[in-house]
Amino acid sequence: MSDYLLELARNPYAKQAIRSLGLPIPLPRTLKRGDGADAAAPLAGSTMTAYGTSKLAAAAVAATTEAGAVVKTVSVQPAASSDEATGTAEGEAAGETTDALLFDASSLRSSADLAQLHGFFHPRVRTLNADGRIVVLGRPPAKQDSPETAAVQRALLGFVKSLGKEIGRKGSTANLLVVAEGAEDRVAAPLRFLLGVRSAFVSGQQLTVGTAAKRGASDAIAQPLAGKVALVTGAARGIGAAIAARLGEEGAQLVLVDRPEGQAGMDALIARFSGTTLAIDLTDPDAADRILTHVQTLYDGVDIVVNNAGVTRDRTLAKMDASWWDLCLGVNLGAAIAVTEALRPKLIRRDGRVIFISSIGGLAGNPGQTNYGASKAGLIGYAEALAPKLGRRGVTVNCVAPGFIETEMTASMPAVLREAGRRLNALSQGGLPQDIADAVTFLATPGASGLTAHTLRVCGLHTAGA
Ligand SMILES: NC(=O)c1ccc[n+]([C@@H]2O[C@H](COP(=O)([O-])OP(=O)(O)OC[C@H]3O[C@@H](n4cnc5c(N)ncnc54)[C@H](O)[C@@H]3O)[C@@H](O)[C@H]2O)c1
Repeated sequence: MSDYLLELARNPYAKQAIRSLGLPIPLPRTLKRGDGADAAAPLAGSTMTAYGTSKLAAAAVAATTEAGAVVKTVSVQPAASSDEATGTAEGEAAGETTDALLFDASSLRSSADLAQLHGFFHPRVRTLNADGRIVVLGRPPAKQDSPETAAVQRALLGFVKSLGKEIGRKGSTANLLVVAEGAEDRVAAPLRFLLGVRSAFVSGQQLTVGTAAKRGASDAIAQPLAGKVALVTGAARGIGAAIAARLGEEGAQLVLVDRPEGQAGMDALIARFSGTTLAIDLTDPDAADRILTHVQTLYDGVDIVVNNAGVTRDRTLAKMDASWWDLCLGVNLGAAIAVTEALRPKLIRRDGRVIFISSIGGLAGNPGQTNYGASKAGLIGYAEALAPKLGRRGVTVNCVAPGFIETEMTASMPAVLREAGRRLNALSQGGLPQDIADAVTFLATPGASGLTAHTLRVCGLHTAGA
């Protein structure tokens, strides 16, 4: 990556100018990311300090221990007054550092109880190692029996978003895992994701684990996608190629779709993983039918469908002609719906996964992107409406909304917009295609059955959007 702002910031005058523009000065550090397929114990070698006495906390500690983390549990409830005793973990020594902090806030009910957040994190936040992880456990605010308890549970999201912005400079993240009553047995995979290296560019987010989709039988950690067929559109390069590679690493057979110009990129993936390719333009009227025939003939069904192909055609609305509008909406939204509708009646298998690559542009909007913003928001609406229809068969439907990711698409942006897009997040850098691939792969695994109708932002806690 050519890091223009980083170069500039070495000059003290330029550094001051960058600061006065409100852009964070880039840090010359690389986030710790995963490499290759997941191990059977992906958290091995990491330490975590946890607080919680509920059955949810017990499930969370059991899951992280099983994934290989060494967990120290704070046994004393943090004092209501945060200046009093803060609770100590067995064997927790003063000055000792840790890789992760887990706080079970699911039983907090009154606004005074929120002092426990301060009581737990205040003395420990400085003990968090670089690339550290903070996870807060909560319950769905809308399901609480009193407005005050709903307020307390909703407060947790504001807490992690703010804390994420404080700890991002060290490459650390803070996220909220909201767990519905009865879904405690589905927290293992989301926790492994949020506490591990696969969520390096996910911060300030809420993942809600529920029971809307039927739970599958397996929750294998190693090679979770063995025997699965995964279709990825726009797979020849960029984010799509990274998604295909990650799904292939975890054992999936690949069905790769891209335009004829993308054949070489798809061939390079098929040389590494098992699968087939289909060179078609998704805007062709028969594209969805050709995909259906390919899947039916060669595989008799598909387990994972990733609708990733997308284009930008940026112009302010007054200057945008209809062809740019039509192309952007046609590829990003129309084709994604057509492919999914073609496959879903018969070919998306039980416990399947449908994932759409949306964008924070669809959540926040951008000038010059009325077409793109509409298409990416449309995907979220489609996923939310489709999810309840497929949940009975254990099929989940989710979106991943990337922030600024270093690809050929973003390399073609005007320089100033590109630098601003890259920097305005808590981690002060652009994400990599691998970050989106890691999020998609997590959502594609059997263990992610608790997440459906969800939009997962992978944006380093970008300032744009909710
Ligand atoms: N890069 C980012 O920062 C970013 C941010 C948010 C969302 N996204 C989304 O992620 C997805 C991938 O983006 P990318 O940055 O890798 O883009 P990219 O341009 O590098 O790759 C897009 C791929 O889609 C394929 N494609 C485009 N139109 C097609 C068509 N009509 N038929 C078949 N294939 C077609 C292209 O050939 C290409 O291989 C897109 O949906 C994009 O909107 C990207």
